[in-house]
Amino acid sequence: MIINEFKRLVGWAALNYVQDGGIVGVGSGSTVAYFIEALATVKNFIKGAISSSDFSSIKLKQLGIPLFDLNDIDSLDVYVDSADEINRHMQMIKGGGGALTREKIIAAVARKFVCIIDIRKQVDILGKKFPLPVEVIPMGRSLVSRELRCLGGQPKYRCGTVTDNGNNILDVYNLKIFDAVSLEEKINNIPGVVTVGMFARRGADVVLVGSEQGVQIIE
Ligand code: A5P
Repeated sequence: MIINEFKRLVGWAALNYVQDGGIVGVGSGSTVAYFIEALATVKNFIKGAISSSDFSSIKLKQLGIPLFDLNDIDSLDVYVDSADEINRHMQMIKGGGGALTREKIIAAVARKFVCIIDIRKQVDILGKKFPLPVEVIPMGRSLVSRELRCLGGQPKYRCGTVTDNGNNILDVYNLKIFDAVSLEEKINNIPGVVTVGMFARRGADVVLVGSEQGVQIIE
């Protein structure tokens, strides 16, 4: 219950990064749901949103926020999304909700990534608790699993999950992630991998942390 209050605090605080007349990148998940609720209150002052998942698109449409196609715009000022884990270098594990590929594409276009989290998401070492999600082309699932085992991880097929792009998810346990950038590159290079949920090469620019103390801003 109290965690939801922390999520609500940062979801609404992220409104400070939304620019008048702009298009806003919108992530996915339960924390972002609060941001979407907040965004609806300024919908007459923005052009609209780029959404990272079908789930967020439905919520945005229901609240009357116009949706844009990323292919129709050249740049994006801000992307607001959450994370499953984040370290002090602002590198993140994302994809707990399975929307990692579209999230990574939007993050790559955005000039500023505002990450909104509750305090539980801050960690010293990524991947110790939360498994690293990897989106894979279905026919490459076994190959990718074998390669991930060679990297020291224990991949588990997220049974029954089909991503918005029609692919599968492997959740990789027990990876010792000391060099997040290098691991991101290695996993990206495995044939059959669509996206790894390691957001290290392009991390967050601003982190809003919700806790009993309110909202802490890390830049
Ligand atoms: C969605 O694919 C994820 O990257 C989410 O950003 C992440 O799982 C955080 O979600 P919650 O806000 O629900 O914890």
